[in-house]
Amino acid sequence: MAAPKRSTKRLQILPGGKGSPSPGVAVRTRGVDPEPKSLVFDAGSYEVLFENASDAILVIDLNTGSITSANNAALELTGYLREEIVSKSAEQLFLSSETGMGHSQSLGWAHVESNGFFEDVVLRAKDGYPRYVSLSSKTLALGDSRVAMCILRDVGEKKNMERDLITKHTELREAYVDLEKANAELKAMQETLVQSGKLAALGELAAGIAHELNQPLTAIKGFAQEARSAASSPKGCDTAYVGSCLGEVVQGADKMEKIISHLRNFTRKSTEDFAWVDVHAVIEESLVMLDKQLSARGIKVERGFDATLPKVWCNPFQLEQVFINLATNARDAIEAKASGSGRITIETRAEGDDLVEIRFADDGCGIPDSVKAKIFNPFFTTKEVGKGMGLGLSISYGILSRINASILVESGADRGTTFTIKLPVDYRKH
Ligand SMILES: Nc1ncnc2c1ncn2[C@@H]1O[C@H](COP(=O)(O)OP(=O)(O)OP(=O)(O)O)[C@@H](O)[C@H]1O
Ligand SMILES: [Mg+2]
Repeated sequence: MAAPKRSTKRLQILPGGKGSPSPGVAVRTRGVDPEPKSLVFDAGSYEVLFENASDAILVIDLNTGSITSANNAALELTGYLREEIVSKSAEQLFLSSETGMGHSQSLGWAHVESNGFFEDVVLRAKDGYPRYVSLSSKTLALGDSRVAMCILRDVGEKKNMERDLITKHTELREAYVDLEKANAELKAMQETLVQSGKLAALGELAAGIAHELNQPLTAIKGFAQEARSAASSPKGCDTAYVGSCLGEVVQGADKMEKIISHLRNFTRKSTEDFAWVDVHAVIEESLVMLDKQLSARGIKVERGFDATLPKVWCNPFQLEQVFINLATNARDAIEAKASGSGRITIETRAEGDDLVEIRFADDGCGIPDSVKAKIFNPFFTTKEVGKGMGLGLSISYGILSRINASILVESGADRGTTFTIKLPVDYRKH
């Protein structure tokens, strides 16, 4: 079906003037006609235009304050009949903050008397409810009277949308506050978890720690006895020898102090210990804790350290906790394997200037595919009751994700396992 032809004529409204046959508005068509024709409206036509305007129009006599004319749209907007609204005091229609009905959005009457455009003016409709309108008012002289022509547009829909938006915004804010609260609670729980993980690791490593402390203690005891017998020798006191023995005693005590202070720092509940950290030194510290346990099982540790590795901004004690967890898991995996060598390989590599990669591999029993997806879940363990709590990896994951680091696992049954950590040099910039 052919589309209907569009007219090429356009309507143009011209102000009436000297050239017009009568005062008023001349309408002429323009387009295909070579000679423009003019149409002239009489007063009745203007009334039709006034009555059928889509915006509400009120004419108010400013001397008496009463409404003199209202078009159909104004009757529809206010709910009044024509005979009710004409002669009605405009002040009763336009709410002010004083008359209010609980609404103080506008001083409509004041707007009526001034020329301009005003948003959010409130009208009191016949049903007593407010109507939100925009008001364009113009004062002019008409014969002896001064009148205000008010063009009103219903903005109730817009207002409702605004109100909905405000409600939604409030709901969103409340949800955000709840979320923040939940987040803070989660963080506190995470801290508790990290703390219990530390204590659990310490409990397990107690034997290794005792061994670490025992070494300097044995040396201290030996050198102290040596110094005592040298000092009370019947041949006289060899002060130089006694001095060197006491030097050894002091050295041993220093070593013990270092271990104890390290343990104290490790167990301290603190998240503020951030510093530029030498990752290799942290790996070594964690291996010191595990040394006895690994050597007792014939597990060798191989290092492939990148000498150019930059320092990393982190909490060294939490990083140490991650390495202890990984090494403990590697130990268990090797022990769980029926036979073969026991080897843990730790490699580091600088990846550009901003990332450090740490690979932690073992040749243990490996992780079957069915288990791999769950290993970072809290309380997931394949170890027998009393051996594992299933917290090591979930705590490690939490610690690493807080410094924007990632941890990935590659493994398969009887293939050994490799954990790869990517650590930003300065997580505050990532
Ligand atoms: N290197 C690994 N080789 C084989 N399996 C591993 C290895 N690391 C982790 N797993 C598997 O992941 C599970 C979860 O490890 P995770 O460290 O979270 O808990 P856990 O070692 O069982 O207990 P916890 O660490 O609390 O003492 C382990 O039970 C084990 O099945
Ligand atoms: Mg573990």
